[in-house]
Amino acid sequence: MNVSLDAKHRLIRLACEVRKHAYAPYSNYLVGAALLTKEGAIFSGCNVENASYGLTCCAERVAIFKAVSEKALEWLAMAIVTKDGGAPCGACRQVMNEFNSDLLVLLGDEKGNLLREMTLKQLLPDAFGPYNLNLTHGLNATT
Ligand code: THU
Repeated sequence: MNVSLDAKHRLIRLACEVRKHAYAPYSNYLVGAALLTKEGAIFSGCNVENASYGLTCCAERVAIFKAVSEKALEWLAMAIVTKDGGAPCGACRQVMNEFNSDLLVLLGDEKGNLLREMTLKQLLPDAFGPYNLNLTHGLNATT
C-alpha cells in the first residue's frame, strides 16, 4: 500500500515530538519513532534507558510493542528521528522483520526533515524470521 508524502511528513513530525520524551540521561542520544498501521493508527515511542544499561529499550521497539499489545499487527511505515537521521540498530531491524519484512522505514532529523527512506529488506537482507521456523502467521510468511 502506498504511503503519501503527506503521511510520511506527519509520521516524521510525530516521531520528532515523541523524541522529546526520550529518557536518555546516560547517552543523551534521543530517539523518537512513529509506526503507521494499515488502518491508519499511529503508535509512537521513545528510547527508555536504565542505570543497568542493558535494560535500555530503543524507541522503535517501544513503538512496536505498544502496537502489538494493542493487537495492531499490520504496518505500513515507521519513521525514526534522531539528531541527524541515524538508522535503526540491528536488534530493532530484527524485531521489525518479525511482523513486516517490507516495512517502509523513514529516517528524519531533529528539525523534522525527512532525510532518507528505504525498505526493511534493504536494511536487513537475507533475514532470519518466522518462515525459518515454519511459522506462517500470515503477516510475514516469506521471510
Ligand atoms: N537507540 C534507539 O532508540 N534506537 C536505535 O535504533 C539505536 C539506539 C537508543 C538506545 C540508547 O538509549 C541510545 O539510543 C544510545 O544507544
